[in-house]
Amino acid sequence: MTLRRRRLVRVPASSANLGPGFDVLAAALALQLEVEVQETGSFAVVTELDVPRDRSNLLVRGFERLHPADAFEFRISSEIPLSGGLGSSAAAIVAGLLAADHLFELDADVMSLAAELEGHPDNVAAAIEGGFVVCQGTRVHRFEPPMGLEAVIVVPFEGVATEAARAALPASVPLGDAVFNVAEAATLMLGLAGANLELISSGLHDRLHQPHRAHLYPRSLELVERAPALGALGATISGAGPSVLVWCHYEQTGAVMDALEREASGWARVVRAPFESQGADVREL
Ligand code: HSE
Repeated sequence: MTLRRRRLVRVPASSANLGPGFDVLAAALALQLEVEVQETGSFAVVTELDVPRDRSNLLVRGFERLHPADAFEFRISSEIPLSGGLGSSAAAIVAGLLAADHLFELDADVMSLAAELEGHPDNVAAAIEGGFVVCQGTRVHRFEPPMGLEAVIVVPFEGVATEAARAALPASVPLGDAVFNVAEAATLMLGLAGANLELISSGLHDRLHQPHRAHLYPRSLELVERAPALGALGATISGAGPSVLVWCHYEQTGAVMDALEREASGWARVVRAPFESQGADVREL
């Protein structure tokens, strides 16, 4: 019997936009998608997740962007909530691309291919690189999460389709809103670069996407507005929503989680999801 090629790929969740950085800023979170890809001689997707088991599976689509999947079995497990705005589709696409790239030593431009398949670069960049990312198109600038900064996510039981969230956006925005977001994003970047929690807290606001999508996630947006009163630095809608990324100093996290549990009762769950420094990883088995 010939040796069967096998790879284990791990890819983190991610939270995009980070408030003012629509389609530009994102951070990796410590929840993982894991896939074992094995050359068995026939195609199969094995998973307990509620995802397609045929060629339309996003991870398989990522793989097949680089190589046919006919002879491969994909065993997929994931801690990343589906359709919550936590980068589950980006993680799947990146995992498929990386598995094929590694198995066939292709040295492909995984970042560009993943951004093309996903339709925007922010989540895939954070999934690949880990840490925090600034996407200048498909050019990615990565930096380490600052010390002391922690994240809690609030994940509503009902999801929002990213397509619906993108369709809710206007074709153009008032100059005043654009200027507001540039100021917020610049302040947030200064805060993150210098581990200045006060600047981080004052740079989390957005006028470009969250208000336009408010009807898709009213409770999430209300929670974003209440987060400072609950003891957090602030909160942002995670990607296209409806999950909420709650930003905390580590000394606040326990009390903030207790307050969030009360706020989320009946419509969402609260999960501690630290910022993740480690990006996607492939191992030969
Ligand atoms: N930046 C994208 C959006 C992220 O907000 O539509 C989608 O997860």
